[in-house]
Amino acid sequence: MYSNTFGRLMLGLRSLKAASSCAATRRAASRSGFSRAAVWRQRTLRQQRSACAGMQQTSRSASHTTVDPGEVKRFQLLANKWWDEEGDFAALHAMNDLRVPFVRDNLLNAQTERHPGKPLAGLRILDVGCGGGLLTEPLGRLGATALGIDPVEDSVRIARQHSSHDPDLRDRVSYRACTLEELSGEEEQTETRFDAVVASEVVEHLADLETFAICCGRVLKPGGSLFITTINKTNLSYALAIVAAEYLLHIVPRGTHDWEKFVSPVELERLLESNGFLVQSVQGMLYNPISGAWSWTNSTAINYALHAVKQDDVDEDSGSPLGDQPEATHS
Ligand SMILES: C[S@@+](CC[C@H](N)C(=O)[O-])C[C@H]1O[C@@H](n2cnc3c(N)ncnc32)[C@H](O)[C@@H]1O
Repeated sequence: MYSNTFGRLMLGLRSLKAASSCAATRRAASRSGFSRAAVWRQRTLRQQRSACAGMQQTSRSASHTTVDPGEVKRFQLLANKWWDEEGDFAALHAMNDLRVPFVRDNLLNAQTERHPGKPLAGLRILDVGCGGGLLTEPLGRLGATALGIDPVEDSVRIARQHSSHDPDLRDRVSYRACTLEELSGEEEQTETRFDAVVASEVVEHLADLETFAICCGRVLKPGGSLFITTINKTNLSYALAIVAAEYLLHIVPRGTHDWEKFVSPVELERLLESNGFLVQSVQGMLYNPISGAWSWTNSTAINYALHAVKQDDVDEDSGSPLGDQPEATHS
């Protein structure tokens, strides 16, 4: 176990070096207008996708739970820290600079109606694993009717309390202490389904990703959007998101992440596409621990954001899309 962990760390540090020299190469390549790295990345993704397509399908049963009791206990202990902008959740506060526009702009691309000042007016958004409502609130301020759900009751209480101070959110933002699978059992009616589901920094804490994907499909309207931000499963993510972030720089509390639960964009894309979604885009995200700011990056090696759309033409029995699908854009 120790030697595996140490080996992963060393590989991660080597990837870091390789990544910085690749970035230099990419910068030089993009200056010349030709990105060999991008072509290589697309080819690798295609190869990985076709390999994944041949992999054994996991069970589609939604009888499993997404809840890992250990994770719920961990977040229970942190519940009173959500709104400390410089505390344990500082990186999540800062991530709003990327994820709020990511959700907003992708939703607006699909909209014809414009609502100046409240661009998301008329849209129902479900924020799964909302915690203290760090992302739910800004989505409400953009005009969406946002429901935040989380299995940790104390987090939901804090979220409710915090949003109650803003009169602008009173009729737009609400919270429930429940799981996605509980909610999806109630949301079978088309008219109560959501235009978008957001799960930001959540899937790496779930017990069962397939149950999550199936339940997202159930609560979304056809053509609805699913937005996920999460951490890739690479040696580099082990070195930076766990060793550096938890043990060296204390950006997040120790034990927050379990590398085994991280998921690569390719694996996530495969899972979503076999459950009736079409992935539209995958974008790399990078956290700068010195400035405390996030930026978009070409590399998805550590953090990434994904946008998928629930397909209209899904075979309800198999959850599979009908017909050929175009490829997602990756950066
Ligand atoms: C890293 S926090 C992210 C919180 C919030 N999405 C944000 O970005 O500000 C992970 C959240 O996932 C929640 N969570 C854990 N297991 C969950 C599950 N099975 N279903 C939904 N949320 C879950 C935790 O309680 C916690 O609030």
